[in-house]
Amino acid sequence: MTSGTRYLKLLIVFLFFSCFPQVYGWDEDILISTKNTSLLLSGNYGETLRFSHYGNKLTDGEIGALHDGWAGMNRNAYPAFGDETTSLTSLQVVHSDGNPTACLALEKIEKTPASQGELTSIHLKDKYYPLSVVLNYETKKDDDIIEMWVKVVNGSDGNIVVKRLDSGFLPVRTGDAWLTHLHGTWTAETQPTVEKLTRGCKVIRNLDGARNGQNDHAEFMLSLDGKPEEDRGQTIGVALAWSGNYEIRLDTENKYCHNIMAGIHPEMSELKLSPGETLTTPKMVVTFSKDGMGGVSRNFHNWARHGGVHGGQKERSILLNSWEGVYLDVEENKLDEMMRDFAQLGGELFVMDDGWFGDKYPRKKDNAGLGDWTVDKTKLPHGVEGLISKAKKHGLKFGIWIEPESVNTQSELYDEHPEWVLQVENRDLKKTRGGTQVLLDLSNPDVQEFVFGVVDNLMQNYPEIEYIKWDANTPVMNFGSTYLGKDNQLALNHSYHKGLENVLQRIREKYPELVIQACGGGGGRVNYGTMPYFDEVWVSDNTDALQRIYMQWGTSLFYPSMAMAQHVSASPNHQTGRATPIKFRFDVAMTGRLGMEMQPSAMIDSEKRFAKQAISEYKRIRPVIQFGDLYRLLSPYEGKGVSSLMYVTPEKDKAVFFSYKLEHFRDQAIPRFYMNGLDETRDYKIREINVAEGKNPSYLDGKTISGNLLMNVGIELPLEEEYASRVYELTAM
Ligand code: DGJ
Repeated sequence: MTSGTRYLKLLIVFLFFSCFPQVYGWDEDILISTKNTSLLLSGNYGETLRFSHYGNKLTDGEIGALHDGWAGMNRNAYPAFGDETTSLTSLQVVHSDGNPTACLALEKIEKTPASQGELTSIHLKDKYYPLSVVLNYETKKDDDIIEMWVKVVNGSDGNIVVKRLDSGFLPVRTGDAWLTHLHGTWTAETQPTVEKLTRGCKVIRNLDGARNGQNDHAEFMLSLDGKPEEDRGQTIGVALAWSGNYEIRLDTENKYCHNIMAGIHPEMSELKLSPGETLTTPKMVVTFSKDGMGGVSRNFHNWARHGGVHGGQKERSILLNSWEGVYLDVEENKLDEMMRDFAQLGGELFVMDDGWFGDKYPRKKDNAGLGDWTVDKTKLPHGVEGLISKAKKHGLKFGIWIEPESVNTQSELYDEHPEWVLQVENRDLKKTRGGTQVLLDLSNPDVQEFVFGVVDNLMQNYPEIEYIKWDANTPVMNFGSTYLGKDNQLALNHSYHKGLENVLQRIREKYPELVIQACGGGGGRVNYGTMPYFDEVWVSDNTDALQRIYMQWGTSLFYPSMAMAQHVSASPNHQTGRATPIKFRFDVAMTGRLGMEMQPSAMIDSEKRFAKQAISEYKRIRPVIQFGDLYRLLSPYEGKGVSSLMYVTPEKDKAVFFSYKLEHFRDQAIPRFYMNGLDETRDYKIREINVAEGKNPSYLDGKTISGNLLMNVGIELPLEEEYASRVYELTAM
């Protein structure tokens, strides 16, 4: 070979590599991995960061081949308006000179140890303006979850306006992708909708203003290769952890991708950043599993117990809530009787719900008193301390209800501080519940101090309070703040929820042991944005056991059983009028954090005996239910007339199986039940629990059966009557 030919060959190789860097490698491949999943971003310094992969775990050695063959995923990792104008984008800023575009290029990459894993921060810089955007990805060593969030820094000497800032952008290769998301309404929360993603943009959003879990939920799953299945199929799960308004967009482009974008809803969250100021988004929490929806749920549940939910490692108590027992008619003697009766059933904690407060404007109806958190002495002559000492006498812990973000216009607080409520100049004040309820303006630091003080005063005055139910019954109806000033009204929703976050953080710093329930007039506050501060959610104001099976199923897609408050209530049920046996009601409530919400004295003796027995069984199986892995077996939405689920310990040595009959006909074919999550090679001793008085346990009771048979051959269950149910406790031999 002549030197000229050699030179020509070298030149060709050089040109080939420099023209197609994406085929043979980038300056940087940023691999972010959990136990079983990987996210891969790639890029050259000074150029646009590319998204390469999210899904099954990769090794470093596989990256080259992935770039070579899977180049179709070579997408902009965080598209900004102006850089990518034909697609929907995740960021839009307006610079001080009016330029509405951003062009982001890779600047530097940092990897730092985080609390239980690793934080990868990728710094992008605008090519012209001093604007920095930091993409953050945090992993935890024990969880298959990546938490993503974005920080924007205004490095200029002028103000910029952030019109949109998504928490994360995730492109998913187009295929047979199916979306599962939750929608609902008061007393009928968390109903799953399953639909194929087709071309165009699917938007999931909530504009309640205060509680964002009652209508569309900020969580969804994407089954990548066809209709969702419970146990198999590559599935992505996403949750936007933000208590305020949000927007999730799934935009399907012509031939490449479903682009997932999730963030704060831009409406009423347009933010101005002054020179040097930064803005950090809420987290977008993502997971991937090859084990279908069940795998995604278990990933979320584990992560929740490791910190996504406050007190995730703490066993939950069995409580009686006074609401459906006495409603607003809380009165010392009645509550004393309730506590006595509940203690006799084996209960552990008594919660006094709404109605205990108001002096000048006592809360006789739901139109007065909110805001005045002083005891109504006509109802409770010995005050809260009197009730606490009675609870102690009965051997119960004590909890109390508040709704600290709300105020009635009939209250001393409103008389003193009408400027503290959300309101719009030149508009009538829109009022909700009771015709007088409005929201406090949490963007105002004085109001934040007041709301913090509601909890702090209660805890200072009554340090024995162990549980607070934090309710929220009203949406934002008045889109204005006397605090924010005329230039910042459009930031109201963001400011409200940052104010709420600030209050909750302060409460948690001071009272880490206090158990707090997030109630949003039912399931309105079911969102991972609130859960770092709350121990549990109230799933729904509908306590009808039959409808609860459906709502609890939906909630369990993302939330762990220990954080789902599930109460046995009266029959006929107060919301649906349906009469169901006490066994059915307990069997349904026992799949989560068990409680009761009724007047125990109204139960007949056989019901009391059943309740006592069931409560004592729950105490034994509680660790399996509250900390075990959930396997959903038969969905109530499948229309097979039955439903079933089970919990299995991570060691697979204990399990609890639940099954329910949802409809009842003569000659009804009941499908076989296939258990899941057990060890095929082990034998399990089966014990039927919660057998109704006068009834016999089924043929399975007392048998020892292999995991293989239980899972792969399945069991036939006698569910003969209307609202029949069976609960089995399994112990590995
Ligand atoms: C709505 C809640 O969801 C109920 O459980 C109850 O606490 C009422 N508010 C009290 O007003």
